[in-house]
Amino acid sequence: MVYPPVFSSNILNQISTMVVILQVHNIFGANTNISQDIRIINGSYAFYQEHFSYQVSLSKFGQHFCGGTILNLEYIVTAAHCIYNNRRPSDITVNLGSLKQGLGVRRKVTDIFMHPGYDNKNLRHDIAILKIPSLGNFTNFIKNITLPDSSPKAGTNCTVAGWGVTETSDSGTLHLKYAKVPIISTPRCRASYKDQLKKEMFCAGYLEGGSDACQGDSGGGLICDQILTGVVSWGHECGEKYYPGVYTDVFYYKDWIRSKSNCLKLISSHLIIFICLFINLLLLK
Ligand code: ARG
Repeated sequence: MVYPPVFSSNILNQISTMVVILQVHNIFGANTNISQDIRIINGSYAFYQEHFSYQVSLSKFGQHFCGGTILNLEYIVTAAHCIYNNRRPSDITVNLGSLKQGLGVRRKVTDIFMHPGYDNKNLRHDIAILKIPSLGNFTNFIKNITLPDSSPKAGTNCTVAGWGVTETSDSGTLHLKYAKVPIISTPRCRASYKDQLKKEMFCAGYLEGGSDACQGDSGGGLICDQILTGVVSWGHECGEKYYPGVYTDVFYYKDWIRSKSNCLKLISSHLIIFICLFINLLLLK
């Protein structure tokens, strides 16, 4: 995805981002091979918060452990395997609106909805919804993302971002990184992963090896044309030849996500109010 240049009103923030990028490069000893070895394994540092306003970090006791995506003012989508061993909502903090780990807005999770079919052995139905106290309103830095209207199309160019493991740091990155990865057709990916690749999963990345998500990026979104198409789920190693990243197909779970994230409830409550008003009007006549 090619991002159009955006002129931020907050120039100081962009400058500080640049300084941090330079610092992170120094900390991790960025080397000259970085452009050849393109495996978040091997993405780029995010520069404009506005471009990643949907991205969140989940942390426990101040420690980042997974990514997530903002669905609306009160709900976050992540991977079920991120939550499997973290079942106490109040132990999980959602960090929003910052490219830097640990900065930005924080919300403690108040409720967890793990997909009821989630299987920790084969990572089937690897999706979960987290509820947070309302964000009030969105800003340029904190925004929701749209759910898909169709299943993923092979060849579509998408972006995955996260604070997970990079080629130079096993403990992840302090500054958000992203990588551009195309969707790979299911028959081509099944040639590698065989029946481990279930029908609610799809692959994105490079069969020849290259840019990929990695440990710590799980739960984050795969964004294609501004739409939340996938959730980082698993993969054999990271950026390996023949083994691209595997993502949960969000389209497959759209109804479940909607039912958990209040959209349907909202519509039905509006319907009830409407019916009540109608009956009142009839009675008044
Ligand atoms: N399971 C990993 C996590 O918990 C994500 C792995 C993604 N791997 C990949 N090669 N795309 O963070």
